[in-house]
Amino acid sequence: MRWHDGAEHRVRRQRIERFIQTLNIRRLGDRAMAVAAESSDRDAAPFHVPLRVMAEAVGVSAEDAGRAAALAGAVARGMGPGASGDPGEAVDAVPELLQLVRGDETLDAANRIGLLLQTCDAVADLVRSALTRPGTTPLGLDQARQLVVTALLDHPPVRVARRFRADGELVTVDIGGRPFGAGPHRCPGEELAIELTAGTVAGLRRARS
Ligand code: HEM
Repeated sequence: MRWHDGAEHRVRRQRIERFIQTLNIRRLGDRAMAVAAESSDRDAAPFHVPLRVMAEAVGVSAEDAGRAAALAGAVARGMGPGASGDPGEAVDAVPELLQLVRGDETLDAANRIGLLLQTCDAVADLVRSALTRPGTTPLGLDQARQLVVTALLDHPPVRVARRFRADGELVTVDIGGRPFGAGPHRCPGEELAIELTAGTVAGLRRARS
């Protein structure tokens, strides 16, 4: 969606926004807190917990959500500008991911997977930076949300946006001071990102105490 503009972008974006509006975001925060509190791998949790909960939100069964999160992680690592992972692993992960994520008339499977990919690195970075801040242990969700908003302003996980110039060259644009961007491509997942992060942070703090 980021690589489109004008009418085509508006139509795609409306679909995403409508889908996000159908989600019970507070319930997803509670779910992230519960999954994080039970997580046995604390190093991987900042990446896997929000992604797993998002996989459930895009229609993957609770039983398959861990697998979908691992596959989405492989796709995110191996594809796109600046990707550090194995492009072959990313390509191999797509067919199984498509099978696990069922689309419907609100949003097709490819766009649901797109939402999983948006829930990878930025959310994990934010969980990690919120976890390193001093604060009461354990945290409730309200306190965790405040911690996350502060961490977001001090250490925004996304500092630049990428755009194609008219001549086709990929350029970066500084979005300093606006952690969720601005204008027609502004992040439609802000509330969701904060809630998934806050739930994960609260659950991990709870597990630690
Ligand atoms: C801490 C976590 C997140 C941060 C800091 C963040 C930040 C951003 C920023 C700065 C943009 C604008 C990029 C641009 O102008 O090209 C963006 C776009 C986008 N974000 Fe997020 N995001 C986060 C999490 C999420 C989540 C959880 C979702 C949904 C599940 C999401 C969905 C999207 C989508 C679909 C776009 C593209 C919008 C468009 O092109 O119209 N983001 N995000």
